[in-house]
Amino acid sequence: MINQQPPRFNAHLLQGQARIPIEAQYASRFSLLIRFFNGFPSDQGAEFNKIVFQQNGDKVEMGPCQYIVEPHHQNFQGRLVFKQAVYDLNSLFFKNKIDKLQTEFSNLPLILAHKTKIKKEFKEFIANLTYDLNVYKNIFDTLDARYADEPELIKQKVQQAVIETEGRKFMRFMDQKLEEFERTIINYSKKEHERHGYYLRKQLWHFLMCSPFMARTNLKPRGYSGDSVMMKMLYDNQYEGHSTFAKLMHKHPNEHPAAQAVRNRRKLVAKMLGELKFGRQKASGRKIRVLSVACGPAFELQDVLTSAHDCTGIQFTLLDQDKSALSEAASLIAMIEKKFNTKIEVEFLNESVRTMLTTPKLDKMWGQFDYIYSMGLFDYLTPPVARAVIEKLYQILNKGGEMVVGNFHISNASRYYMEYWLDWVLYYRTEQEFIDLLKNVPTAESRVLFEDTGSQMFLHVTKSES
Ligand SMILES: C[S@@+](CC[C@H](N)C(=O)[O-])C[C@H]1O[C@@H](n2cnc3c(N)ncnc32)[C@H](O)[C@@H]1O
Repeated sequence: MINQQPPRFNAHLLQGQARIPIEAQYASRFSLLIRFFNGFPSDQGAEFNKIVFQQNGDKVEMGPCQYIVEPHHQNFQGRLVFKQAVYDLNSLFFKNKIDKLQTEFSNLPLILAHKTKIKKEFKEFIANLTYDLNVYKNIFDTLDARYADEPELIKQKVQQAVIETEGRKFMRFMDQKLEEFERTIINYSKKEHERHGYYLRKQLWHFLMCSPFMARTNLKPRGYSGDSVMMKMLYDNQYEGHSTFAKLMHKHPNEHPAAQAVRNRRKLVAKMLGELKFGRQKASGRKIRVLSVACGPAFELQDVLTSAHDCTGIQFTLLDQDKSALSEAASLIAMIEKKFNTKIEVEFLNESVRTMLTTPKLDKMWGQFDYIYSMGLFDYLTPPVARAVIEKLYQILNKGGEMVVGNFHISNASRYYMEYWLDWVLYYRTEQEFIDLLKNVPTAESRVLFEDTGSQMFLHVTKSES
């Protein structure tokens, strides 16, 4: 993100033997603002062999480039764009890295050769599936076109009728194809899963991009799977998309067991927090301190805080590495406050749990908590990191306090759908591996619970009073 005005710098342009001095400034990812010194007259479209300047003590030469006239309020006369190698100026000026738009192509031979390592039966499965999906898409698109001119409400009703009849049959077709797909890949090694997953996504890309959910999990605009927009899609579980086919491709993964497990865990957290409201800490007369680690948009709070009275007894601390998720959580809190005309005591911590690991006296900074929960985080942590994080959290739990941590179980029925289609890879654990995360902490009383789909488990930890 560029917050401040980028610096101006001196450079020169080479045109044949001529060396033309200019002042330049970063303008956009692929253009520079420039001003000619000495009133050099340059025409629209003038071409130069290269631009030369110093960047952090190094000489940078980039070209060929072309001048586009565009008078600018800061006395610049126009922009410079590159004609062949298209340099990423954002990388150059803000990450100190020379990158070209065409860099992707340098991997082309490797990417193209990828297909030679794909098993025959998998290629055949994908080829048949591609044909079938094209047939379905084509029919649904044709139907969409036939009622496209109807009034909006009629269009919605007609689409709903198509979804509830042929659309639901398509969903069953997808279920059957996924069963066939799992039978094909079930004995693949980890490396083979990665390789075949990559191949599937390249082959089915066009279909995946139709689905708002699958497009986001694959494109990862915030750099990771499970961002607050994806979480909202999972919680909403609606038919979203620009066509009937898109809506079906969006809804199908949202109905799968892992998605249901996420909705179940939200209910479970809300139930546990709800019980806290009336729990024994409340009897002590002070507010209950609750910490949500990797809180995301904290949607569960709207299920818990359902009256002005609910908002008074708990002091929340919401931690997440993602600023956008925290700001969505803040909007949700503000909405609840407005609804019940009350104040909620909440602190936001924009931190990574990895920073927490290097902070020696965490309790001095954040205090102690009565209740700590973390959903959708441990699935991303390797065993050593998960162990270190849970031990650290246990240290800041009050005696008699409780901690609940979620993790997908190795038996997650959506595992390969997620890995291959959604490019959403998690760390799965067994019950024993989950319990063992706290094996170095003898005072912890732990048990494992499951939600209804059996895909997601929860480590429930109590810190004994003694
Ligand atoms: C799958 S979402 C779960 C959000 C929320 N707990 C829920 O269940 O709806 C995962 C969240 O973990 C956060 N996260 C991932 N790695 C993190 C880290 N190392 N430290 C803090 N937050 C992290 C992400 O920013 C994201 O908001």
